[in-house]
Amino acid sequence: MKKIIIAIDGHSSCGKSTMAKALARQLGYIYVDTGAMYRTVTLFALRNGIFKGDSLDAARLEEMMPQVNVSFRLNPETNLPEACLNGECVESEIRTMEVSSHVSPVAALPFVREAMTLQQQRMGLEKGIVMDGRDIGTVVFPQAELKIFVTASAEVRAKRRFDELKAKGDDVNFDEILRNVQERDYIDSHREVAPLRQADDAVVLDNSFMTIPEQNEWLLQQVEKAVAD
Ligand code: DC
Repeated sequence: MKKIIIAIDGHSSCGKSTMAKALARQLGYIYVDTGAMYRTVTLFALRNGIFKGDSLDAARLEEMMPQVNVSFRLNPETNLPEACLNGECVESEIRTMEVSSHVSPVAALPFVREAMTLQQQRMGLEKGIVMDGRDIGTVVFPQAELKIFVTASAEVRAKRRFDELKAKGDDVNFDEILRNVQERDYIDSHREVAPLRQADDAVVLDNSFMTIPEQNEWLLQQVEKAVAD
């Protein structure tokens, strides 16, 4: 079967990575979580004192960017890629509320986006890839054969995030998470560089009230159509 590029974009916490992972597994494709890449750069910034409170020293981060190496390593047990910062696996560190609440300004920096975009484009050279993020169908792979734009209501997304963090044992507050989801939506959609927007040729998936099996079936139908084109 012809290999294609599948770009999955959409709002934060609407299950993009879960669906992208499952789809990649079913198709035997490579899965790339680009949000993890921006989160990893953010973790580097936090660890190196580049944030003073909420304010970010962009010039210092730009100077230090050559010291930031983001990569993925396949976890042999789960068979899933895990994000690494300079060779250290940071998959769980990048999922904390601290990283979530600092990632948007980092992801808005042009020099950060440029570095990550180039790396993502290299990963897609051979096709057979499912990549999720915010600008995959619009900036990284405008030529992707299949573009999906995922959304769900802010409340449904905050509840999913809340359940996920709670299950990990984190001490979480629903209202704080809802505020974080809404703030990220705003920043992601209003930033100057590569804002979150639906590509003209993307198919929209609102999964607020969809079960995972229903969603998988819908996705596979889209893939079949895209491969046949
Ligand atoms: O998908 P996520 O919540 O892990 O993404 C983390 C942040 O990174 C989010 O604020 C948006 C940003 N991001 C981006 O700007 N571009 C991407 N391609 C992926 C994520």
